[in-house]
Amino acid sequence: MLQIANLTFDSPFILAPLAGYTDLPFRRLCREFGAGLVVSEMISCHGLVYKQANTLAMLASNPAERPVSFQLFGADPLIMGQAAALLSTFHPDLIDINMGCPVKKVTKRGAGAALMQEPQTARAIIENVISNSMVPVTVKTRIGVDSQHISALDFARMAEDAGAAAITVHGRTWAQGFTGIADWEVIAQVKQAVAIPVIGNGDICSHAQGLAMMRQTGCDGIMIGRAALGNPWVFTPGGKPTELSPLLDGVCRHLELIEQTLPAGHMPGCIKNHLGRYFKGLPESASYRKMIYDCKDLPALRQVLASIRGNI
Ligand SMILES: Cc1cc2nc3c(=O)[nH]c(=O)nc-3n(C[C@H](O)[C@H](O)[C@H](O)COP(=O)(O)O)c2cc1C
Repeated sequence: MLQIANLTFDSPFILAPLAGYTDLPFRRLCREFGAGLVVSEMISCHGLVYKQANTLAMLASNPAERPVSFQLFGADPLIMGQAAALLSTFHPDLIDINMGCPVKKVTKRGAGAALMQEPQTARAIIENVISNSMVPVTVKTRIGVDSQHISALDFARMAEDAGAAAITVHGRTWAQGFTGIADWEVIAQVKQAVAIPVIGNGDICSHAQGLAMMRQTGCDGIMIGRAALGNPWVFTPGGKPTELSPLLDGVCRHLELIEQTLPAGHMPGCIKNHLGRYFKGLPESASYRKMIYDCKDLPALRQVLASIRGNI
Protein backbone atom coordinates (compact mmCIF):
# COMPACT_ATOMS: atom_id res chain seq x y z
CA MET A 1 0.00 0.00 0.00
CA LEU A 2 1.47 3.37 -1.00
CA GLN A 3 1.66 5.76 1.91
CA ILE A 4 3.02 9.32 1.78
CA ALA A 5 3.18 11.13 5.12
CA ASN A 6 -0.27 10.64 6.68
CA LEU A 7 -1.96 9.70 3.39
CA THR A 8 -2.70 6.16 2.24
CA PHE A 9 -3.53 5.58 -1.41
CA ASP A 10 -5.75 2.79 -2.68
CA SER A 11 -3.43 2.15 -5.65
CA PRO A 12 0.30 2.77 -6.11
CA PHE A 13 -0.36 3.93 -9.71
CA ILE A 14 -0.18 7.69 -10.12
CA LEU A 15 -1.12 9.96 -13.03
CA ALA A 16 1.99 12.06 -13.86
CA PRO A 17 1.83 15.82 -14.27
CA LEU A 18 1.52 16.55 -18.00
CA ALA A 19 1.39 20.22 -19.01
CA GLY A 20 -1.53 20.78 -21.37
CA TYR A 21 -3.20 17.51 -20.40
CA THR A 22 -3.65 16.77 -16.69
CA ASP A 23 -6.53 19.18 -16.22
CA LEU A 24 -9.44 18.52 -13.87
CA PRO A 25 -11.57 16.36 -16.25
CA PHE A 26 -8.66 14.11 -17.18
CA ARG A 27 -7.55 13.79 -13.56
CA ARG A 28 -11.09 12.80 -12.55
CA LEU A 29 -11.25 10.29 -15.38
CA CYS A 30 -7.96 8.67 -14.34
CA ARG A 31 -9.14 8.46 -10.73
CA GLU A 32 -12.33 6.74 -11.92
CA PHE A 33 -10.17 4.26 -13.85
CA GLY A 34 -8.09 3.43 -10.79
CA ALA A 35 -5.20 5.89 -10.43
CA GLY A 36 -4.45 6.16 -6.70
CA LEU A 37 -3.28 9.78 -7.00
CA VAL A 38 -3.41 12.36 -9.77
CA VAL A 39 -1.09 15.33 -10.33
CA SER A 40 -1.94 18.69 -11.89
CA GLU A 41 -0.03 20.35 -14.69
CA MET A 42 2.95 22.35 -13.45
CA ILE A 43 1.83 25.68 -12.04
CA SER A 44 4.07 28.75 -12.18
CA CYS A 45 4.85 30.21 -8.76
CA HIS A 46 4.95 33.68 -10.32
CA GLY A 47 1.60 33.15 -12.04
CA LEU A 48 0.10 32.20 -8.68
CA VAL A 49 1.63 35.00 -6.66
CA TYR A 50 0.66 37.60 -9.28
CA LYS A 51 -2.76 35.95 -9.56
CA GLN A 52 -2.66 35.59 -13.34
CA ALA A 53 -6.03 34.43 -14.64
CA ASN A 54 -4.72 31.48 -16.66
CA THR A 55 -2.75 30.23 -13.66
CA LEU A 56 -5.68 30.58 -11.27
CA ALA A 57 -7.83 28.63 -13.78
CA MET A 58 -5.43 25.70 -13.35
CA LEU A 59 -6.45 25.43 -9.69
CA ALA A 60 -9.93 24.15 -10.56
CA SER A 61 -10.52 21.06 -8.46
CA ASN A 62 -13.36 18.87 -7.25
CA PRO A 63 -13.68 16.49 -4.28
CA ALA A 64 -14.24 13.61 -6.74
CA GLU A 65 -10.63 13.78 -7.93
CA ARG A 66 -9.07 13.47 -4.49
CA PRO A 67 -6.41 12.61 -3.56
CA VAL A 68 -4.81 15.21 -5.82
CA SER A 69 -1.37 16.78 -5.88
CA PHE A 70 -0.74 20.25 -7.31
CA GLN A 71 2.68 20.80 -8.80
CA LEU A 72 4.60 24.08 -8.49
CA PHE A 73 7.54 25.22 -10.56
CA GLY A 74 9.92 28.10 -10.07
CA ALA A 75 13.49 28.94 -9.11
CA ASP A 76 13.11 31.57 -6.40
CA PRO A 77 12.78 30.07 -2.90
CA LEU A 78 10.89 33.10 -1.56
CA ILE A 79 8.32 33.22 -4.36
CA MET A 80 7.96 29.43 -4.22
CA GLY A 81 7.18 29.76 -0.50
CA GLN A 82 4.57 32.45 -1.15
CA ALA A 83 3.05 30.35 -3.92
CA ALA A 84 2.90 27.32 -1.60
CA ALA A 85 1.06 29.37 1.03
CA LEU A 86 -1.50 30.44 -1.59
CA LEU A 87 -1.79 26.96 -3.05
CA SER A 88 -2.38 25.51 0.42
CA THR A 89 -5.54 27.58 0.77
CA PHE A 90 -7.00 25.54 -2.11
CA HIS A 91 -6.49 22.40 0.01
CA PRO A 92 -4.75 19.96 -2.30
CA ASP A 93 -3.75 16.68 -0.63
CA LEU A 94 -0.10 17.18 -1.59
CA ILE A 95 2.11 19.83 -3.14
CA ASP A 96 4.78 18.59 -5.57
CA ILE A 97 7.82 20.59 -6.67
CA ASN A 98 8.99 20.28 -10.27
CA MET A 99 12.75 19.68 -10.32
CA GLY A 100 12.93 17.72 -13.55
CA CYS A 101 11.29 19.62 -16.42
CA PRO A 102 13.79 19.93 -19.32
CA VAL A 103 11.78 22.47 -21.34
CA LYS A 104 13.98 25.50 -22.17
CA LYS A 105 11.50 28.17 -21.13
CA VAL A 106 11.51 26.58 -17.64
CA THR A 107 15.24 25.71 -17.28
CA LYS A 108 16.57 29.00 -18.64
CA ARG A 109 15.05 30.69 -15.59
CA GLY A 110 16.76 28.16 -13.30
CA ALA A 111 13.62 26.10 -12.60
CA GLY A 112 12.73 22.46 -13.36
CA ALA A 113 15.71 20.26 -14.30
CA ALA A 114 18.14 23.19 -13.86
CA LEU A 115 17.67 22.84 -10.09
CA MET A 116 19.60 19.55 -10.21
CA GLN A 117 22.68 21.72 -10.83
CA GLU A 118 21.85 23.97 -7.88
CA PRO A 119 21.19 21.63 -4.96
CA GLN A 120 21.47 24.48 -2.42
CA THR A 121 18.78 26.50 -4.16
CA ALA A 122 16.74 23.30 -4.55
CA ARG A 123 17.07 22.70 -0.82
CA ALA A 124 16.02 26.28 0.02
CA ILE A 125 12.98 25.86 -2.26
CA ILE A 126 11.95 22.59 -0.60
CA GLU A 127 12.37 24.07 2.89
CA ASN A 128 10.45 27.24 2.04
CA VAL A 129 7.63 25.37 0.34
CA ILE A 130 7.34 23.03 3.35
CA SER A 131 7.32 25.82 5.89
CA ASN A 132 4.57 27.63 3.96
CA SER A 133 2.48 24.57 3.18
CA MET A 134 -0.35 23.00 5.18
CA VAL A 135 0.06 19.67 3.35
CA PRO A 136 2.94 17.24 2.75
CA VAL A 137 5.40 18.29 0.05
CA THR A 138 6.97 15.96 -2.53
CA VAL A 139 9.67 16.44 -5.16
CA LYS A 140 9.82 15.19 -8.76
CA THR A 141 13.21 14.99 -10.41
CA ARG A 142 15.36 13.10 -12.95
CA ILE A 143 18.37 10.83 -12.45
CA GLY A 144 20.88 13.62 -13.21
CA VAL A 145 21.99 16.30 -15.62
CA ASP A 146 23.62 13.89 -18.10
CA SER A 147 25.13 10.41 -18.14
CA GLN A 148 28.38 11.75 -16.64
CA HIS A 149 26.50 13.38 -13.78
CA ILE A 150 24.05 10.93 -12.24
CA SER A 151 23.16 12.81 -9.06
CA ALA A 152 19.78 11.36 -8.11
CA LEU A 153 21.06 9.59 -4.99
CA ASP A 154 22.57 12.72 -3.45
CA PHE A 155 19.63 14.80 -4.65
CA ALA A 156 17.13 12.40 -3.09
CA ARG A 157 19.07 12.37 0.20
CA MET A 158 19.08 16.17 0.15
CA ALA A 159 15.32 16.29 -0.52
CA GLU A 160 14.65 13.84 2.30
CA ASP A 161 16.86 15.79 4.68
CA ALA A 162 15.07 19.03 3.72
CA GLY A 163 11.76 17.41 4.67
CA ALA A 164 10.25 16.09 1.43
CA ALA A 165 7.58 13.46 2.10
CA ALA A 166 8.35 11.47 -1.08
CA ILE A 167 10.42 11.70 -4.22
CA THR A 168 9.53 10.81 -7.80
CA VAL A 169 12.42 9.82 -10.04
CA HIS A 170 12.01 9.94 -13.82
CA GLY A 171 14.69 7.50 -14.96
CA ARG A 172 16.21 9.82 -17.57
CA THR A 173 18.77 12.61 -17.48
CA TRP A 174 18.04 16.25 -18.29
CA ALA A 175 20.20 15.85 -21.44
CA GLN A 176 18.06 12.94 -22.62
CA GLY A 177 14.85 14.95 -22.60
CA PHE A 178 12.33 12.29 -23.58
CA THR A 179 14.71 10.15 -25.69
CA GLY A 180 16.48 6.92 -24.78
CA ILE A 181 15.10 4.55 -22.19
CA ALA A 182 14.40 5.13 -18.52
CA ASP A 183 17.10 3.73 -16.21
CA TRP A 184 15.44 1.52 -13.58
CA GLU A 185 18.78 0.75 -11.92
CA VAL A 186 19.19 4.32 -10.66
CA ILE A 187 15.60 4.26 -9.38
CA ALA A 188 16.50 1.09 -7.43
CA GLN A 189 19.59 2.80 -6.00
CA VAL A 190 17.57 5.83 -4.91
CA LYS A 191 15.14 3.49 -3.16
CA GLN A 192 18.09 2.05 -1.21
CA ALA A 193 19.44 5.52 -0.41
CA VAL A 194 16.39 7.08 1.28
CA ALA A 195 13.66 6.10 3.73
CA ILE A 196 10.90 8.26 2.22
CA PRO A 197 8.67 6.67 -0.46
CA VAL A 198 10.19 6.58 -3.93
CA ILE A 199 7.95 6.77 -6.99
CA GLY A 200 9.39 5.34 -10.20
CA ASN A 201 8.62 7.01 -13.52
CA GLY A 202 9.47 6.64 -17.17
CA ASP A 203 8.15 4.54 -20.08
CA ILE A 204 5.58 2.54 -18.12
CA CYS A 205 2.96 1.56 -20.69
CA SER A 206 0.85 -0.96 -18.78
CA HIS A 207 -0.26 -2.02 -15.33
CA ALA A 208 1.88 -5.17 -15.60
CA GLN A 209 4.96 -3.14 -16.52
CA GLY A 210 4.33 -0.89 -13.53
CA LEU A 211 4.22 -3.89 -11.20
CA ALA A 212 7.45 -5.14 -12.79
CA MET A 213 9.12 -1.80 -12.06
CA MET A 214 7.98 -2.03 -8.44
CA ARG A 215 9.38 -5.57 -8.13
CA GLN A 216 12.69 -4.77 -9.84
CA THR A 217 13.43 -1.42 -8.22
CA GLY A 218 11.62 -1.83 -4.90
CA CYS A 219 9.95 1.55 -5.53
CA ASP A 220 6.75 2.31 -3.60
CA GLY A 221 4.67 3.76 -6.41
CA ILE A 222 4.57 4.10 -10.19
CA MET A 223 3.89 7.29 -12.09
CA ILE A 224 2.50 7.05 -15.62
CA GLY A 225 2.49 9.97 -18.04
CA ARG A 226 2.30 9.60 -21.81
CA ALA A 227 0.83 6.10 -21.77
CA ALA A 228 -2.25 7.45 -19.96
CA LEU A 229 -3.12 9.83 -22.81
CA GLY A 230 -6.11 8.41 -24.64
CA ASN A 231 -5.72 5.40 -22.36
CA PRO A 232 -6.98 5.79 -18.78
CA TRP A 233 -7.30 1.95 -18.80
CA VAL A 234 -3.52 1.89 -18.25
CA PHE A 235 -4.40 2.14 -14.55
CA THR A 236 -6.37 -1.13 -14.74
CA PRO A 237 -4.92 -4.66 -14.91
CA GLY A 238 -7.03 -5.39 -18.02
CA GLY A 239 -5.63 -2.48 -20.04
CA LYS A 240 -7.12 -0.70 -23.05
CA PRO A 241 -10.08 -2.44 -24.69
CA THR A 242 -9.56 -3.69 -28.21
CA GLU A 243 -13.29 -3.36 -29.03
CA LEU A 244 -14.55 0.01 -30.27
CA SER A 245 -17.66 0.04 -28.08
CA PRO A 246 -15.96 0.08 -24.64
CA LEU A 247 -13.35 2.45 -26.09
CA LEU A 248 -16.13 4.88 -27.05
CA ASP A 249 -17.64 4.51 -23.56
CA GLY A 250 -14.33 5.83 -22.19
CA VAL A 251 -14.23 8.69 -24.71
CA CYS A 252 -17.83 9.66 -23.88
CA ARG A 253 -17.14 9.61 -20.13
CA HIS A 254 -14.12 11.85 -20.70
CA LEU A 255 -16.25 14.24 -22.76
CA GLU A 256 -18.95 14.22 -20.07
CA LEU A 257 -16.37 15.22 -17.44
CA ILE A 258 -15.02 17.93 -19.75
CA GLU A 259 -18.53 19.33 -20.24
CA GLN A 260 -19.04 19.53 -16.48
CA THR A 261 -16.05 21.88 -16.14
CA LEU A 262 -16.17 23.92 -19.32
CA PRO A 263 -18.00 27.20 -19.64
CA ALA A 264 -20.90 26.69 -22.11
CA GLY A 265 -19.95 27.14 -25.75
CA HIS A 266 -16.24 26.86 -25.02
CA MET A 267 -14.21 24.33 -27.02
CA PRO A 268 -10.47 24.52 -26.43
CA GLY A 269 -8.11 22.58 -28.70
CA CYS A 270 -6.94 20.38 -25.82
CA ILE A 271 -10.25 18.46 -26.02
CA LYS A 272 -9.44 17.37 -29.55
CA ASN A 273 -5.86 16.55 -28.49
CA HIS A 274 -7.18 14.29 -25.78
CA LEU A 275 -10.01 12.62 -27.66
CA GLY A 276 -8.07 12.01 -30.89
CA ARG A 277 -5.61 9.85 -28.97
CA TYR A 278 -8.10 7.20 -27.94
CA PHE A 279 -8.22 5.71 -31.43
CA LYS A 280 -4.44 5.28 -31.82
CA GLY A 281 -3.64 1.86 -33.24
CA LEU A 282 -7.05 1.32 -34.88
CA PRO A 283 -7.09 1.03 -38.71
CA GLU A 284 -9.55 3.97 -38.86
CA SER A 285 -7.63 6.13 -36.39
CA ALA A 286 -6.51 8.79 -38.91
CA SER A 287 -10.03 9.31 -40.26
CA TYR A 288 -11.57 9.38 -36.76
CA ARG A 289 -8.97 11.91 -35.65
CA LYS A 290 -9.69 14.10 -38.67
CA MET A 291 -13.44 13.95 -37.97
CA ILE A 292 -12.74 15.05 -34.38
CA TYR A 293 -10.38 17.83 -35.44
CA ASP A 294 -12.93 19.19 -37.91
CA CYS A 295 -15.53 19.72 -35.16
CA LYS A 296 -16.32 23.32 -34.34
CA ASP A 297 -18.22 22.80 -31.10
CA LEU A 298 -19.22 20.22 -28.52
CA PRO A 299 -22.55 19.21 -30.14
CA ALA A 300 -20.63 18.49 -33.37
CA LEU A 301 -18.14 16.42 -31.38
CA ARG A 302 -20.93 14.42 -29.76
CA GLN A 303 -22.43 13.81 -33.20
CA VAL A 304 -19.12 12.54 -34.55
CA LEU A 305 -18.78 10.11 -31.64
CA ALA A 306 -22.37 8.90 -32.23
CA SER A 307 -21.63 8.35 -35.92
CA ILE A 308 -18.46 6.36 -35.09
CA ARG A 309 -20.54 4.25 -32.72
CA GLY A 310 -23.21 3.84 -35.41
CA ASN A 311 -20.64 2.26 -37.72
CA ILE A 312 -19.79 -0.54 -35.31
C1 LIG B 1 3.38 16.68 -22.78
C2 LIG B 1 4.15 16.49 -21.51
C3 LIG B 1 3.99 17.39 -20.47
C4 LIG B 1 4.69 17.22 -19.27
N1 LIG B 1 4.48 18.11 -18.26
C5 LIG B 1 5.11 17.92 -17.06
C6 LIG B 1 4.85 18.78 -15.96
O1 LIG B 1 4.03 19.71 -16.04
N2 LIG B 1 5.53 18.54 -14.79
C7 LIG B 1 6.42 17.50 -14.67
O2 LIG B 1 7.01 17.32 -13.60
N3 LIG B 1 6.66 16.67 -15.70
C8 LIG B 1 6.02 16.84 -16.86
N4 LIG B 1 6.23 15.95 -17.88
C9 LIG B 1 7.04 14.75 -17.64
C10 LIG B 1 6.12 13.58 -17.20
O3 LIG B 1 5.48 13.88 -15.97
C11 LIG B 1 6.92 12.28 -17.03
O4 LIG B 1 7.92 12.47 -16.06
C12 LIG B 1 7.58 11.84 -18.33
O5 LIG B 1 6.71 11.98 -19.43
C13 LIG B 1 8.07 10.38 -18.23
O6 LIG B 1 7.00 9.52 -17.90
P1 LIG B 1 6.22 8.66 -19.05
O7 LIG B 1 7.28 7.89 -19.80
O8 LIG B 1 5.28 7.78 -18.27
O9 LIG B 1 5.53 9.65 -19.94
C14 LIG B 1 5.58 16.14 -19.11
C15 LIG B 1 5.76 15.23 -20.16
C16 LIG B 1 5.06 15.39 -21.35
C17 LIG B 1 5.27 14.38 -22.46
